[in-house]
Amino acid sequence: MKHDIPFARPFIGETEEAAALRVLRSGWLTTGAEALAFEKEFREFLQSHGGDAANSGLHCLAVNSATSGLHLALEACGVQSGDLVLVPSYTFTSTAEVVRYLGADPVFVDVAPGTFHINPQALEKTLESLKPLRASGKIPKAVIPVHYGGLPCDMSAIMDIARRHNLKVIEDAAHSFPSLLPAGIAGESDMAGNSPAWAGAIGDVGVFSFYATKTITTGEGGMVVCKDAAIARRISVMRSHGIDRNVWNRYTDTTASWYYEVVEAGFKYNLPDLLAAVGRSQLERAWELLRMRQEIAAAYDAAFANNEHFLLPPTGVGDARHLYPLRLNLPRLRISRNDFIQKLKEQGIGVSVHFIPLHIMPFYKNRYRLAEEDFPETMKSFRQEISLPIWPGMTAAQVEQVITVVKSVAGEYTV
Ligand SMILES: Cc1ncc(COP(=O)(O)O)c(C=O)c1O
Repeated sequence: MKHDIPFARPFIGETEEAAALRVLRSGWLTTGAEALAFEKEFREFLQSHGGDAANSGLHCLAVNSATSGLHLALEACGVQSGDLVLVPSYTFTSTAEVVRYLGADPVFVDVAPGTFHINPQALEKTLESLKPLRASGKIPKAVIPVHYGGLPCDMSAIMDIARRHNLKVIEDAAHSFPSLLPAGIAGESDMAGNSPAWAGAIGDVGVFSFYATKTITTGEGGMVVCKDAAIARRISVMRSHGIDRNVWNRYTDTTASWYYEVVEAGFKYNLPDLLAAVGRSQLERAWELLRMRQEIAAAYDAAFANNEHFLLPPTGVGDARHLYPLRLNLPRLRISRNDFIQKLKEQGIGVSVHFIPLHIMPFYKNRYRLAEEDFPETMKSFRQEISLPIWPGMTAAQVEQVITVVKSVAGEYTV
């Protein structure tokens, strides 16, 4: 008897349960010792696996979502009202909405053919086209590459463009933990010469997500990573109402514990201990969870390779395999992507689409008068893409069930 297979399911075990219970019984639920320990252990994780040379000066700041983290990152990098920030058209709305939070404007850039990633050539071209706007004070300040699905972008090309155009680089690493690049691949980020680098720790700031469906999860949560101490300090203050001391000190310092100063109108973006404790347990399993996703991806790759109905997802070194974005080879099928999804649903397979492009979303489309045809590769990817279930804990039988159903629908509607 076949059971329904959800699109995503968190991998939560006894250690996560024990961690949550530990906090519930401790008398301290909000941000405190657990959040500090999570930040420390996250930093140690990046250092111990990523090599000291490129990763020793990293600051890690826990936040209540990657969206909050991206907002803090842009703010700390000096993005202000009227500025421009370049973002891919193929991403979740968080990547662009945070630009609006600051009164700045997102400028959308198409993805490179077959990659789901911001196209460095299109980025360069867009930057050239924005030059006449400088006279009116519209200045590109930052770019937010998205490591879609966990596969790192071409950071070498992006860092090079950013340096020449004086842009801050904020990596949207919501999907890409852990994603380690061997020495040399990330270009100039390979600071000390010959160190591996993490996707998310290459640009000025990187932001990971611990949302419920992500590669490690706290239910809701995120981690901001940066090298610059001043940026880290600003993020730390703005994360906590613009108060000059963090919440932990405010309540536990023995001297003048009531005293604090508000130096800016900040935000409330701290990660509570209840969630941080779960994150610490998930962090310990990060490689194990990756290995499980890799096994599922390998089974899908083997099943869908050399099949006229499908195009495999792009993959490569450092792929965290957060998503399995199968693409339908539509000319070989008599069914649309939407109807294909409906057929899978009818047979109990939960799938998703990553992403509905931002330039066709009513808000962005209307505000910036965007046309579908200006982002041809984004539209092509969107029309083909189906994200299959790829969650640690899926049994081999469940993976097989997904493969069988996907192939049978394709077979039924073959041209
Ligand atoms: C590419 C991308 N960026 C940012 C986010 C926001 O993450 P969070 O839910 O932690 O705010 C998401 C969430 O799904 C995402 O897919």
